[in-house]
Amino acid sequence: MTTIANILDTMEYGPAPEDASIVTDWLARHADGFGHFIDGSFTRPGETFEVMNPATGDVIARASQGTTEDVDAAVAAARKAQPKWAALSGHERARHLYALARHVQQHARFLAVLESLDNGKPIRESRDIDIPLVARHLYHHAGWAEIAKDEFPGTAPHGVCGQVIPWNFPLLMLAWKVAPALAAGNTVVLKPAEYTPLTALAFAGIVEECGLPKGVVNIVTGDGDTGGAIVGHKDIDKVAFTGSTEVGKLIRRQTAGSGKALTLELGGKSPFVVFADADLDAAVEGVVDAIWFNQGQVCCAGARILVAEAVADRFAGLLRARMETLRTGDPLDKCTDVGAIVHPVQLDRIKTLMERGVAEGAKLHQVAAPQGCFYPPTLATEVEPASVLATEEIFGPVATLTTFRTPEDAVALANNTRYGLAASIWSENVNLCLDVAAKVKAGVVWINCTNVLDAGAGFGGYRESGFGREGGREGMMAYLAHPKPRAKSGAKELPAPDAAPHAAGAESGIDRTAKLYVGGKQARPDSGYVYAVEGPKGPVGRAGLGNRKDIRNAVEAAAKAGGWGKATGHNRAQVLYYVGENLAARSAEFEQRLRSFGATEKAARAEVEASVRRCFWYAAQADKFDGAVHQTKSAHVTLAMHEPLGVVGIVAPTAHPLLGALSTVLPAIAMGNSVVLVPSQTHPLAATDLYQVLDTSDIPGGVVNIVTGPRDSLARTLAQHDEVAAMWYFGTADGCATVEADSAGNLKQTWVEDEAARDWSGGAGQGRGFLHRATQVKNIWVPYGE
Ligand code: NAI
Repeated sequence: MTTIANILDTMEYGPAPEDASIVTDWLARHADGFGHFIDGSFTRPGETFEVMNPATGDVIARASQGTTEDVDAAVAAARKAQPKWAALSGHERARHLYALARHVQQHARFLAVLESLDNGKPIRESRDIDIPLVARHLYHHAGWAEIAKDEFPGTAPHGVCGQVIPWNFPLLMLAWKVAPALAAGNTVVLKPAEYTPLTALAFAGIVEECGLPKGVVNIVTGDGDTGGAIVGHKDIDKVAFTGSTEVGKLIRRQTAGSGKALTLELGGKSPFVVFADADLDAAVEGVVDAIWFNQGQVCCAGARILVAEAVADRFAGLLRARMETLRTGDPLDKCTDVGAIVHPVQLDRIKTLMERGVAEGAKLHQVAAPQGCFYPPTLATEVEPASVLATEEIFGPVATLTTFRTPEDAVALANNTRYGLAASIWSENVNLCLDVAAKVKAGVVWINCTNVLDAGAGFGGYRESGFGREGGREGMMAYLAHPKPRAKSGAKELPAPDAAPHAAGAESGIDRTAKLYVGGKQARPDSGYVYAVEGPKGPVGRAGLGNRKDIRNAVEAAAKAGGWGKATGHNRAQVLYYVGENLAARSAEFEQRLRSFGATEKAARAEVEASVRRCFWYAAQADKFDGAVHQTKSAHVTLAMHEPLGVVGIVAPTAHPLLGALSTVLPAIAMGNSVVLVPSQTHPLAATDLYQVLDTSDIPGGVVNIVTGPRDSLARTLAQHDEVAAMWYFGTADGCATVEADSAGNLKQTWVEDEAARDWSGGAGQGRGFLHRATQVKNIWVPYGE
């Protein structure tokens, strides 16, 4: 007999289609194609490309392929509008952003339907996640516009921002880029992805509707060539990009030496770690949100499930059962969980990667999906750590499942990737979760939750997932610049070090040749050469001619000194005070050294005194430059932790041989980094003398390593080294360009400056800005309250 329970068990969901007619009528009215939105109005369509609904394969619109002339016009409009926009009061800018937020809310359903038609994502997601978050971002940044002057004193907008976004969250990525840029007083030229330009064009309509001043927001559609024209445009001051790591690296190289500010939000291969004591049912729902949300086309998708061996079978069973209930199909059906893949090109890419994975031995568990541009939700097991499925960003609804035994294994597996965007950790033991959160290399860590996003917290990666943060206070800082310390530039090339034997100069006393300082010990240069250090009256000493091998040894030593980053701020402060104390005790000797390079008595004394003060200032900051607790979603606190970057390569300025070295090394080590320092090439002896101070001040071996020699070739080796996480370079304009380009390999964070541009002896030689450069923010989402 059929019972009600029976019926409820077997009953299929009926279709619940969203009516798209208002949107399709709007598209029909633009059947001739969309133009760009430049200087406050739409241009006539130029050469157009097809925009497709991936769920049906129908062409639903045509958008214009942006040419270099279009980009020129958009940048010119943005440039013209920028001073006036920046001169508005924060309150006036806030009102504009508030209007945008309100209008997005008014048109929320229109935008959600259009997004699902264009991208293929389920209406449930575009309606309940994407568009509400777009409004939230605009509201949040209306707030920043209002208070930015008070909250970020001494900063100014960059100017014109070129922004290139991907297709996975088309309107949300637009909001992430446009809202902070406008709040800070910048104007923008934004290019949506070629697969999904439509909500950006609808947003342009909203910009018009809200009466935003002309030229403040410009939207140019087109493919990667259009993106390249924006990124490379000489009148763009800041570039913000979200997309593939491959294109991110291209952009890093393309902008090298241009002076453009750059933030990159790139790919990921994020771990989803399930401990044996996790609430497994909750973790299974977590996987649904981690990898089947948006068809897995999510940069922070939890694509690598790591599960404790003890519960692996049970967890896999629960997961398979849950997969059976996922409904893949029509994105406009309100009951659909998994929609269409954005484009057949992406579908082919997923299929190709999966074929390679299967050839490497992976076993796939898949559930039903319709024909067409759909890919079935998939669980891949028996995946080796080195296999393509474990290493490449698949960007599809595919999770791998691997087991681990101990928390240490879990951390090692989690970090076994070149990326570092996000991680999700599941255990009822919050101590364990927080312990692992500290060890995982990722910009965002979710504890007992996943893919939670909010405008109030920064989002962005470590390692090859890019640099810079979007959202919250951290995100605002990416759109504000500290004015250049002084306009001077034009540092000169240095002559090659002279390594031939020389007659003695004014040098006196017992001959001393400074060695390199590596791993807490003096080291002879691998080259076997020394070079002359000149004073005003001839050579005053010799320094080791360091080479690639010395840099590699120094980097290895620095990498081994990672424990320094785990020392408490108080410990590091004590050590830095001790450096200051020991330096002060040897002032006379250091002053003498500086005088031998030609400094006057007064200048030498001032440099040593300033150096000692700097030790104290960074000692003071070591336990005070801390993070924040962001107010994000209910039931969470979001801890924005300042973490060290790792090994920082520092090429110190030539002038102020002692102060320049300490001004850069101290902030880096105060924040827990270890350093490979290339000191002033012409006068390295003030820095090499420091090793005695460091040795007597309890600085652990390897925290500071000093390699003397030819500045620019040592800089290149450092910039190309994959163990180096960040590069600070103060030298010539050419050197700046080379360091930035060479850093693209592992996407190091770079800080490069013409060495003539900064007065190291004054206020510009120290500050919180240095500490920001020395840290990256990890946002940890912790359950809190109800
Ligand atoms: P993509 O990185 O090529 O495209 C992203 C955006 O960059 C688009 O607007 C595109 O037109 C633009 N672009 C492409 N080449 C450019 C260039 N040389 N200069 C400036 N802009 C350029 O990504 P694509 O080809 O659409 O997807 C390929 C793979 O990239 C995906 O399968 C996925 O693995 C990854 N991806 C990751 C994203 C993320 O959020 N992490 C987003 C999109 C793609």
